Amino acid sequence: MIETAPILFFDSGVGGLSVVAPTRALLPDAPIVYAADSAGFPYGTRSEAEIAARVPALLGRLVERYRPRLVVIACNTASTIALAAVRAALDVGVVGTVPAIKPAAAMSRSRVIGVLGTAATVRQPYVDDLAARFASDCTVLRHGSAALVEIAEAKLAGTPPDPAALARELDGLFAQPRGAAIDVIVNACTHFPLLEAELAAVAPDGVRFVDGGPGIARRIVHLTEGQAWPAQADDVLVFTRLSDAERRLAAGLGFAGVEAL
Ligand code: DGL
Repeated sequence: MIETAPILFFDSGVGGLSVVAPTRALLPDAPIVYAADSAGFPYGTRSEAEIAARVPALLGRLVERYRPRLVVIACNTASTIALAAVRAALDVGVVGTVPAIKPAAAMSRSRVIGVLGTAATVRQPYVDDLAARFASDCTVLRHGSAALVEIAEAKLAGTPPDPAALARELDGLFAQPRGAAIDVIVNACTHFPLLEAELAAVAPDGVRFVDGGPGIARRIVHLTEGQAWPAQADDVLVFTRLSDAERRLAAGLGFAGVEAL
């Protein structure tokens, strides 16, 4: 393994940074290429066919250009729809991000869990399967939110979230039959942990949030065990469409390099 080979993180937007953060905490020397499909954003309102066609093709180009040691699809929507196709197409290890239903079931006392994701994610058979395997004794309620994705993007671009708008989105879970009993919410979109403090502030007391980021970071450590890291690495942010908005965002996020795919 070449020392400078990066870990490639991929998302539609800034959401995957919620997976990068716990990874950086465990692997501070890992060179990171973060790719955001700004030209395809948002994914959550797209069809399965669009995601299935777009994601493997983009990742193929990114892998060719950056030669990563590992690919992390830091997006639940892309992972629940296209993970198998990406793995089949690439000759590099691929880690996906799927809703953290298993840890949520381990945490829940009320046995009522909320899954907050994009509309595309919450309708996936992959989610039915996770619920059946890991939370068969729980009621698993789902809500798809496009608004939270936009609110998270806006937060990282400098606009603080409006608490009333966040509360309205949580109501999509709590207003469902049995919703009042939810004690754990799965942040099943990587954008949502970026809003966790603000969501917790408007959620009923005692409701806890969980996401896949920390588990993925541990998995990355495991998969790169024994590999060498460079003494110094400059992280790169790549966009599929690079306009002034993306350049401003990149500067605000502290990335040294910004590139267009
Ligand atoms: N961050 C993505 C996810 O985890 C998708 C957000 C979007 O583009 O709708 O599902």
